[in-house]
Amino acid sequence: MYHPEGPTFLELMRQALASTEHGYDLIAPKFDRTPFRTPDAVLDAMMRAIVDDTPATRPIRAALDVCCGTGAAMSHLRALCSDRVVGLDFSQGMLDEARRRVAAAPGDAAVELVRGDALALPFSSEFDIATCVGAFGHILPEDEERFVAGIARALRPGGRFVFATGEMPPLRAGSWWLARSFNAVMRVRNALLRPPFIMYYLTFLWPAIAPVLERHGFTVEVHEGLCPAPSQRGVIVTARR
Ligand SMILES: C[S@@+](CC[C@H](N)C(=O)[O-])C[C@H]1O[C@@H](n2cnc3c(N)ncnc32)[C@H](O)[C@@H]1O
Repeated sequence: MYHPEGPTFLELMRQALASTEHGYDLIAPKFDRTPFRTPDAVLDAMMRAIVDDTPATRPIRAALDVCCGTGAAMSHLRALCSDRVVGLDFSQGMLDEARRRVAAAPGDAAVELVRGDALALPFSSEFDIATCVGAFGHILPEDEERFVAGIARALRPGGRFVFATGEMPPLRAGSWWLARSFNAVMRVRNALLRPPFIMYYLTFLWPAIAPVLERHGFTVEVHEGLCPAPSQRGVIVTARR
């Protein structure tokens, strides 16, 4: 549908009818051939924001990527870390893909993959950097506090949560209507079918998310204009614990 080697329309439908977790298991081997895999250009921009903000006196020892999928961000983070790069995801299929891909990525940091829930992170004061990309659509607004609390707990004091997001498009934009229509379809699907497939657009947006981060002790900074086309409306947010 998106790419000759990507999932077909039917395979995407089967994903949307499964649970979120099992849906990703189903498309894991073909996931990198979909537009849902975060583009390397956006990840490069994120890495630049991380490196530019890393003092020589405090190098990055360990980084965590939450909802790591097939390891897109981990493959970039590995070279920045001296000790370990950890990815967490609840889909075993996606973790299996990540294991293969991140092992081949540049860098010497140990690669660890953890099967777990982003809303119940099992880490405490262990990371200098935490990232999350392309996955905020899976975090319901009522779960944002729990999600951010887990990330704050996982970071060492002074550690940074760095992520890419967008701003709310204006009402006149086609993307606003497309996203709202998609969300309406998903709400109907989830009202009628069990288990739910949690995926909604226009979530965790800048600047609406800033107060949530601040409530969990983060100091927040936004970098605009770092993301190249076609993601030029995206922003990189650095939240320092
Ligand atoms: C759209 S993919 C993005 C993957 C990767 N971050 C990227 O940008 O290419 C979303 C990922 O989030 C994972 N995910 C969704 N909800 C999750 C949750 N509550 N806990 C852990 N992983 C979750 C899915 O299994 C999937 O691998």
